[in-house]
Amino acid sequence: MTDQLDFENKVALVTGSSRGIGRAIALCLAQRGADMVVNYVRNQAQAEEVAAQIRSLGRRALVVRANVGKLEDIERLFDAVAEEFSSLDIFISNAAIGFNRPAMDQKPLGWDGTMNVNARALLFSAQRAVPLMEKCGGGAIVSLTSPGSVRVLPDYVSVGASKAAIEALTRYLAVELSPKNIIVNAVAPGVVATDALQHFAAMADEHMLEHLAEITPAGRLVTPEDVASVVAFLCTPAAAMIRGQVITIDGGYTLLTPR
Ligand SMILES: NC(=O)c1ccc[n+]([C@@H]2O[C@H](COP(=O)([O-])OP(=O)(O)OC[C@H]3O[C@@H](n4cnc5c(N)ncnc54)[C@H](OP(=O)(O)O)[C@@H]3O)[C@@H](O)[C@H]2O)c1
Repeated sequence: MTDQLDFENKVALVTGSSRGIGRAIALCLAQRGADMVVNYVRNQAQAEEVAAQIRSLGRRALVVRANVGKLEDIERLFDAVAEEFSSLDIFISNAAIGFNRPAMDQKPLGWDGTMNVNARALLFSAQRAVPLMEKCGGGAIVSLTSPGSVRVLPDYVSVGASKAAIEALTRYLAVELSPKNIIVNAVAPGVVATDALQHFAAMADEHMLEHLAEITPAGRLVTPEDVASVVAFLCTPAAAMIRGQVITIDGGYTLLTPR
């Protein structure tokens, strides 16, 4: 963790920052000086706890309940950001859901919900984020994707498709927003031990995570803080020439040849 306050006087919004990876990103950006917008959909107490930690660092924190799968909630979320802060420097599209089952068992409702929360939210949030970023002369947008966008993970079809859409959107937004000095990228973490793993049957085996850690070239699993520090880097001037890329954060796991 750097002591550098490279995000001082900057405002950042992280969707789904009440728990897991989003929480770690929000705390990392606040530790580095940013005022934060914490978003959640169900767990208000956990969102308020994240906001309290941010305030204890001397930063401002606005908590907004908004289901990013709903366009009207996205509008309300960005209205709240504009009212509280007037501008936005950093937007992290992190919130995600999934209805894990085989392709033949997927239902239209699960598909629509997954695509709307995970992928549609990036596009329509970007439409609201960009005018707020133009007020500060530019900004950074980072999305959370997953190796399941290009690899076939068990029962991951709708999430995988939504993540592939995020990666395509990342490239299109990166090109279209470059003249506005808005830098757009994505990160693809390997397995991170968060609540999200409860939805994966393969992870129910208590030894699975230990086994994954053992076979990962880096010798351990990726932590939420590992992801947060790469996301933060992508929001700094040092990363200015990285555009429209998907950065894998998996300790080398996807380099392995399956045995
Ligand atoms: N964990 C992994 O192994 C892994 C690997 C690769 C990629 N990722 C990606 O990393 C991101 C974060 O994953 P995670 O494991 O930290 O997830 P998580 O522990 O399940 O947390 C999800 C967060 O998103 C929020 N959220 C869910 N639906 C929402 C909605 N409709 N509107 C607004 N917020 C919503 C939740 O809020 P509440 O607390 O209110 O429910 C929570 O803060 C996701 O994009 C995920 O696909 C995770």
